[in-house]
Amino acid sequence: MCGIVGYIGKKNAVDVIYNGLQKLEYRGYDSAGIAVIENGKIERRRSVGKLVNLQKNIKSNKIFGNIGIGHTRWATHGKPSEENAHPHTDCSGKIVVVHNGIIENYVSLKKQLQKEKHKFASETDTEVVAHLIEKYYKGDLLAAVKSALKNIEGAYALCAISCEDSSRVVVARKDAPLVIGLGKEENFIASDVSALLQYTKDVIFLENGDVAEIKENSIKIFDTKNKKVTRAQQKILWNAIQAEKCGYKHFMLKEINEQTQTTQDTFRGRISDEENKIILQSVKLTKEEISNISRICIVACGTSYHAGLTAKFLFEKLTGIPTEVNIASEFRYANPVIDNKVLTIFISQSGETADTLAALRLAKEKKSKTVAICNVVGSSVSREADNVLYTHCGPEIGVASTKAFTGQLTALYLLVMFIASKKQTISKKQLAKFIVNLRDVPKKISETLKLSTKIKEIAKMFQNTKQFIYLARNINYPIALEGALKLKEISYIYAEGYPAGEMKHGPIALIDETMPVMVIATKSKVYDKILSNIEEAKARGAKIIAIANKGNKDIVKKSDYQIFVPEVDEILSPLINVIPLQFFAYFVSVMKGCDVDQPRNLAKSVTVE
Ligand code: F6R
Repeated sequence: MCGIVGYIGKKNAVDVIYNGLQKLEYRGYDSAGIAVIENGKIERRRSVGKLVNLQKNIKSNKIFGNIGIGHTRWATHGKPSEENAHPHTDCSGKIVVVHNGIIENYVSLKKQLQKEKHKFASETDTEVVAHLIEKYYKGDLLAAVKSALKNIEGAYALCAISCEDSSRVVVARKDAPLVIGLGKEENFIASDVSALLQYTKDVIFLENGDVAEIKENSIKIFDTKNKKVTRAQQKILWNAIQAEKCGYKHFMLKEINEQTQTTQDTFRGRISDEENKIILQSVKLTKEEISNISRICIVACGTSYHAGLTAKFLFEKLTGIPTEVNIASEFRYANPVIDNKVLTIFISQSGETADTLAALRLAKEKKSKTVAICNVVGSSVSREADNVLYTHCGPEIGVASTKAFTGQLTALYLLVMFIASKKQTISKKQLAKFIVNLRDVPKKISETLKLSTKIKEIAKMFQNTKQFIYLARNINYPIALEGALKLKEISYIYAEGYPAGEMKHGPIALIDETMPVMVIATKSKVYDKILSNIEEAKARGAKIIAIANKGNKDIVKKSDYQIFVPEVDEILSPLINVIPLQFFAYFVSVMKGCDVDQPRNLAKSVTVE
């Protein structure tokens, strides 16, 4: 939530920061602002709404500087308005700050600072940081930021500059991400690497509690004990093109279409051809540790939680290990019963979701062995977990997660098979068959992607629908939840997913001719049961859209619209069945004129509770 960018060097900071903010706009788009040091003075431009408004503002009221900071906001404290947009200044207007996170004790700090005659211009929590820095500023911005931070409780990634010292940007992070991009006679700062890719691939991820002073030619980092430290430099393998739309109308459409490649990228190098073995080099669990696992506990939010729900079926079926799935925001306050025999798995595309990160820390306190499944390399969850399995899907920019979900599922299949083969709960033959089937999935995804025109036609029939029910059973039940989530988040249609067998226990009362039902009815051990559920919904007037396998003639009589997907092994079917649901939500959203990539009230990376 909220994106921040900083720059110091020889270029026009305004351009670098604006370009970076464009890449981070998915983190928040209520308002945006940039401040630079121009002729020894802070110059600031801020605008409400999307970044284009800021661009217009800067075009008509130009600023220039070689050092600056910028911000794109997802409002937490204070409505979206120009006054509340970052950067925020102190009373003198000589210090400016951008911030991502929440200053939890800002009310008491503000009261205290007001008593000390500081004048506030916004309703934000962030502004207290600017005034605190002012309070401690005695000609050394770094020292002032360090002193200010001693007063602050909460989460922050922040950048500060002062026009009295135009040679450095001071940054700090705690429980919110910040990455430094390294250049020649220039350096960059951003909330995540996508903002840096067009300038550099060499980065340093700051650790929690770090404060850093960034100059054109040097970087000094201090840890929580104020000790000067070196943090490893890393090379990012993503490229700037991956973060572009590449001719697609929306990032979401591009990302749906990338799934043939991205699922392959997730399993590439992790399956050995000769021995039919799953090789997960980054998962350091020994055979003995695996045989000691008493329970698996998966923790995640939103779409990632749905990937976890799917994995529960797999872990229990193939490893025999009891598995539970928890929503991170509940898990962290629920006194979970966890010990060193419990394997906890944290799924997060961004690796920065505040609740997932807090849950991971809790599990580690309780001595659980932890595995993270993340897409963003170097993210907090990936760095703090004992083991990390990257999904390698490339940057996901659309707020609605698509390719990251199929990447998470693929990574989970690999982890399940890795544990099952170490525990010998599956035979060599079963593993070999699974590997053949998994290798075939990208081809099947590619066939499924060709259904987009047909799905668009069906979507046309439902663009004015106010509500929707999604049904499935067993391993596809989480896919029904995921389909419903996609529809509600990007087209604002009320949609609910249910395990089909649960309908008779209440939800069927909702069904009449105004309630269409999307049903996953691909081949499975519960296929006949789902057919009965379709009949029950149809008998009450619902229009039925069925996702079924190619060649299924029965379903034509039982449903109103059909989407025929290629057949795959039942356990891999979620990877295929989710794709029509992603397309359906996408087309409905476009037809309704919604903002597909940046739906209202949402942000890609939920770094606050
Ligand atoms: C929905 C969506 C969200 C995320 C959730 C967790 O399309 O993207 O529900 O899945 O906010 O985010 P990560 O996976 O980054 O922890």
